[in-house]
Amino acid sequence: EIHVAKVLPFSEESLTFCAKALKSDSLVAFPTETVYGLGANALSEKAAEKIFSAKGRPKSDPLIVHISFMRQAESLTNMSEFQRQCFDVLGTKFWPGPLTIIVKASNIVPKIITANGDSIALRIPANKVAQELLKQANIPVAAPSANRFGHVSPTTAKHVYDDLSDFDDLYILDHSENCSIGIESTVIKIFEKNKIALLRPGAISSLQIKSELNKEKINFKFEILQRVVKIQDIEKSANISMESPGQLLTHYAPTIEAFIVTNQSKSENFGQTFSKEFLNSSVIIDFNQKNASLMKSSLKYIDLSSRGDFDEASQNLFSYLRNAEKIEGAKYILLPDLIEQNNEKSFGVFDRIYRAASGKYINII
Ligand code: TXA
Ligand code: MG
Repeated sequence: EIHVAKVLPFSEESLTFCAKALKSDSLVAFPTETVYGLGANALSEKAAEKIFSAKGRPKSDPLIVHISFMRQAESLTNMSEFQRQCFDVLGTKFWPGPLTIIVKASNIVPKIITANGDSIALRIPANKVAQELLKQANIPVAAPSANRFGHVSPTTAKHVYDDLSDFDDLYILDHSENCSIGIESTVIKIFEKNKIALLRPGAISSLQIKSELNKEKINFKFEILQRVVKIQDIEKSANISMESPGQLLTHYAPTIEAFIVTNQSKSENFGQTFSKEFLNSSVIIDFNQKNASLMKSSLKYIDLSSRGDFDEASQNLFSYLRNAEKIEGAKYILLPDLIEQNNEKSFGVFDRIYRAASGKYINII
């Protein structure tokens, strides 16, 4: 007898089946508007344990808890007045949607969910399948991205199966209309007093968040917590303390080596900089045709958005990375330096590109 995860094509019956599976502490992978989540009953330590073993995720990395309506946060949290104020404003404005809000946890939340910390991350997803699943299960559902730890996040049921098929107590709810955003949610932490920090950029920008709080005349300091850990620092010390353990640079990495190609203005020099063999074994993932001059000599060339649209690029990035690592003869992935300092839409997608490349640039001279 072979034990593997089961993929269930979406139907009313399979959705009801998955809701029951969650209640009986099995794992269910489901689509959200960001990426596929690997769900488990957030109030059951035994169920949450399975997430860590299926993903190979260290227990030091806390989980996001998905809820279906704001009042469901009551019993899971123990908020200060400032947290309550901001939580109400931001939840009302951005939920359901791609925003994760971290506040103080109540003591009914199992320690495995918070990684022994005192805060909990919450999100109401906007995807209809996710919403219906949460509603029917009627429990808070812990769900990290449904990839093997450290690998690229999944945006299709097939991606989930490719990474997690070995785990047998897992149902994968397959719905084709999934993951329209394509990168994980924006994560913010609301501190007990007057401070908010951005821990992970996503589709909802810090400008949008600040503007909603300002409208309500809330006083706050806003920080962008060190998002980018330099590769040299990682080499120096394996245990830098980080506000959010998921900030590890090795996140989102494809299985072959990736680099960011930079200094676009000198693109006519590409041919001199790269050896023929290097380009021959490289997959170029481009943006807005920036590195189009590399197309001819490369193994494969594909553009995240040839018209320079960041939403389209986010939607495509993870599946392009997963496709690239499977191409025969592919040894390297060359990624675009698409960050635009005055355009927050570029931050989320570049953050994932930077991590996929583990912060390594190839400078064109
Ligand atoms: O879009 C998303 O957020 C997806 C979908 C499935 O909802 N989920 C997701 O989960 O990306 P995950 O576990 O892959 O990323 C959650 C991030 C991690 O970096 C984790 O360290 C951080 O949020 N996190 C979770 N709880 C936290 C907490 N209490 N304090 C600080 N960081 C926390
Ligand atoms: Mg993840």
